[in-house]
Amino acid sequence: MKHKIVTIDGPAASGKEKISKYISKKWQLKHLDSGILYRRLGYILLKDKVEIDKIEEVKKKIKKIKSIPYRKSKKIRTQQIAKIASKIAIYNCVREFINKLQYDFVKENKYYKGFVIDGRDIGSVVFKKANLKLYIDVNPKIRAKRRYKQLIDSGEKSIYRKILRDIELRDNKDKLRKNSPLVVPKNAFIVNNNGEFKDTIKQINNIFKDF
Ligand code: C5P
Repeated sequence: MKHKIVTIDGPAASGKEKISKYISKKWQLKHLDSGILYRRLGYILLKDKVEIDKIEEVKKKIKKIKSIPYRKSKKIRTQQIAKIASKIAIYNCVREFINKLQYDFVKENKYYKGFVIDGRDIGSVVFKKANLKLYIDVNPKIRAKRRYKQLIDSGEKSIYRKILRDIELRDNKDKLRKNSPLVVPKNAFIVNNNGEFKDTIKQINNIFKDF
């Protein structure tokens, strides 16, 4: 039996992780967070003091990403790593490597019923033939407020206006890059996640009615 694939794309801090986790639990699908892989490479580059503008230097470190980690590491969840991740995400060699990791993981792990995979290009590039595609839409100011609260709650120092600026910069980088920009994938359902989570869940349950 072929795996069921659900893709979730959307801008930074739009709630993709929370929504993916909800779907993963309710429909027993394995959750893969593609952003972790970009962040992981970002973390390696920062640690090894690599100049990220030099693609040849970045290339040398790509293989260190190795496998898809499931455990959430606090160290890669920072704003600093997010910024580096979105800078190196413009490189085709990085994207190709990460895409292959995802294809191989899905292919090799046949015992899962299916996967829910989130990112920026999952429904538009990585799994174009997915069974169901979602695009999460949230106003940047609401996203910044939520991210601010998240960072404060996790003990990181944070300034709302700086978060908003970072989110807007990251949106621009993700939407305007040449390789796999963030777009609403063809045939994707748009989920409005501006309000309370129970309203988002209602929309999702409705979309998944016949899943
Ligand atoms: O989703 P997350 O914020 O963890 O992603 C970090 C960065 O990695 C994003 O800002 C984006 O530039 C990049 N990314 C990407 N494609 C994906 C997932 C993440 O370009 N599928």
